[in-house]
Amino acid sequence: MVAREETTDNALDPVGRPLPDFPVPSALSAHGPARVIAMCNQKGGVGKTTTTINLAAALAEYGRKVLIVDFDPQGAASVGLGINPHELDRTVYDLLVDRSVEVHELIRPTGQDSLTGSLDLLPANIDLSAAEVQLVNEVARESILSRALRPVMDEYDVILIDCQPSLGLLTVNALTAAHGVLIPLECEFFALRGVALLVETIDKVRDRLNPRLELDGILATMYDPRTLHAREVVARVHEAFGDNLLHTMIGRTVKFPDASVAAEPITTYAPTHPGAQAYRQLARELVARGDAA
Ligand SMILES: Nc1ncnc2c1ncn2[C@@H]1O[C@H](COP(=O)(O)OP(=O)(O)O)[C@@H](O)[C@H]1O
Ligand SMILES: [Mg+2]
Repeated sequence: MVAREETTDNALDPVGRPLPDFPVPSALSAHGPARVIAMCNQKGGVGKTTTTINLAAALAEYGRKVLIVDFDPQGAASVGLGINPHELDRTVYDLLVDRSVEVHELIRPTGQDSLTGSLDLLPANIDLSAAEVQLVNEVARESILSRALRPVMDEYDVILIDCQPSLGLLTVNALTAAHGVLIPLECEFFALRGVALLVETIDKVRDRLNPRLELDGILATMYDPRTLHAREVVARVHEAFGDNLLHTMIGRTVKFPDASVAAEPITTYAPTHPGAQAYRQLARELVARGDAA
């Protein structure tokens, strides 16, 4: 008798690795201390802000207390959560340049709360573009954000820093404040260009300023499984970075720009859309890896 071949219906991720079943994170009995994650890539338009907002919203859905630090003078994370940053007279900029400002004074609720989770925002606007130059002569200029966030570290489970597209002093401040870095990579031909420099910057910050800093993962974004090109790009990223490439990949869909026009995370704008499910899976994957509470 011929043994029937074991049929495996285990799912594979887009690079052909078995896709683990990431469990729904268990409820937390207490909140904090926060794990700080910097969303970094010096290339613009790769999905940093989209990932910050939607990962944060998914973690809040899972009962986590989450703070987004908008650390880009464009203020896209603030706008994407319904706050008009040009109307604000004080932002994260004031926290950096004025030692008398306390972080609690600047944090605002976003209304994206769940039963036990919450999503707050430390907003930014164009004022922040002056900080880079202003802080150059400060003492311990790389650890200003880290110090400024200390009073809220015990109040949140996760703090996500949405970095600007550069490797300048603000990004170094984010890396110095962080426990982990997430690198969103757009699935297109030049995606890997610049990543070596980013990884070098992360290594330098780890050596000189923040020994605990980890690379939490590389997130493929704007992935279109129908194109050979996107499949080739993720295969190359996998070759270069191995299991630093997260299983979760974010598909390309117009629902993301739509949700940002509506100033909402996709998880509430289109809760059952595959894009919303992808960010929930990312949240579960990071929790399962120990990269988020
Ligand atoms: N998975 C996606 N599919 C389609 N469009 C996306 C996706 N992720 C982001 N976008 C859009 O691409 C643009 C750049 O994304 P964004 O998150 O602002 O990048 P970054 O913060 O790295 O500059 C935005 O218009 C955003 O709505
Ligand atoms: Mg951005």
